[in-house]
Amino acid sequence: MIEHTVYSLSEIDAVAKLVADDLQGGEVLALVGDLGAGKTTFTQALARALGVTQSVLSPTFALEKQYPTNREFILHHFDWYRLTNSKQVEDLGVVELFGDPASVTVIEWPERARGLLPNTTHWLIFEDVNATTRRITFHT
Ligand SMILES: Nc1ncnc2c1ncn2[C@@H]1O[C@H](COP(=O)(O)OP(=O)(O)OP(=O)(O)O)[C@@H](O)[C@H]1O
Ligand SMILES: [Mg+2]
Repeated sequence: MIEHTVYSLSEIDAVAKLVADDLQGGEVLALVGDLGAGKTTFTQALARALGVTQSVLSPTFALEKQYPTNREFILHHFDWYRLTNSKQVEDLGVVELFGDPASVTVIEWPERARGLLPNTTHWLIFEDVNATTRRITFHT
């Protein structure tokens, strides 16, 4: 298990590629961090690494967006910021995606329904260091 720490925007694509290369389908990536910590920015880089050509916008209002990738799975991008309880999350039908080899699920604000997440969830921690620097910590 290696802990990765990343700081600048210029490193994001390399980090995202590292994560993308490990994905097989069925994974859940939980992105934890304050407003503006870089969760959507990372998801955009992950999508690029998976060959997604459409632009990846924050799903804060849509709650979920889906992107076909150049791999055997669809990338599902959720933002649970506006949800207040795990019932609302269950109603999104997200649990069916967990472990489904045809899906990879990325979740911003996963703490809204931590109890629904599988114990195989990959946790990535985002911290705002200063205006141009973020710290992303995760294990592979
Ligand atoms: N690694 C990074 N280095 C420097 N700046 C970054 C980095 N990642 C993101 N930023 C900048 O931080 C700002 C906010 O990023 P982003 O929208 O990804 O945050 P977020 O965590 O998704 O926030 P929210 O909780 O509101 O969805 C953007 O302007 C982005 O360019
Ligand atoms: Mg975001």
